[in-house]
Amino acid sequence: MTRSEITVRRLTEADLPAVLAMEARCFPDPWSEGVFRTALRDESCLWLAAELCGAPVGYAGMQWVLDEGYIDNVAVDPAFRRRGAASALLAAMIGEGKKRALSFLSLEVRAGNEGAIALYTSFGFETVGRRKGYYLRPPEDALIMTKYFEAETI
Ligand SMILES: CC(C)(COP(=O)(O)OP(=O)(O)OC[C@H]1O[C@@H](n2cnc3c(N)ncnc32)[C@H](O)[C@@H]1OP(=O)(O)O)[C@@H](O)C(=O)NCCC(=O)NCCS
Repeated sequence: MTRSEITVRRLTEADLPAVLAMEARCFPDPWSEGVFRTALRDESCLWLAAELCGAPVGYAGMQWVLDEGYIDNVAVDPAFRRRGAASALLAAMIGEGKKRALSFLSLEVRAGNEGAIALYTSFGFETVGRRKGYYLRPPEDALIMTKYFEAETI
């Protein structure tokens, strides 16, 4: 399978069983079904799914307040990693951020999550801060990584 087979579409409540299963495989502190349902219904949130052969293999969410954008839960099923699914999701979110005239997109990532940090850095996110003890299970600092749009011309 090639990276070009990945497509991105809106996540819906019908995807929740697949999302909850992936969430449990991807995070030590997974979000509950109730939290996902609330987030999916929030009009200041956008949730996207990455699909391969018609099935969701990853997802990510973003929310915005005025011109500030925040990304949540970028996750790709372990069986489908390193095929560009997270990159496709991030590219789509950055496109949405620009379309909505956001000033920046920001996120938290575990300080030791080298793969995710490499991914975000490749999309122009910079480390702008650290939240001590932000994660509990297991305990770890969060890096705050932000991509600013003002400086970009496209
Ligand atoms: C981080 C994660 C979302 C990446 O998903 P993915 O679909 O495998 O990422 P992509 O295939 O789009 O990777 C794009 C690039 O990011 C970097 N990257 C991604 N995963 C990496 C890893 N484990 N180690 C090193 N670099 C990595 C590479 O530069 C990669 O390009 P390459 O494959 O050509 O080398 C996925 O590993 C995951 O779901 N992890 C568990 C949940 C998580 O940590 N989410 C982030 C929370 S902030």
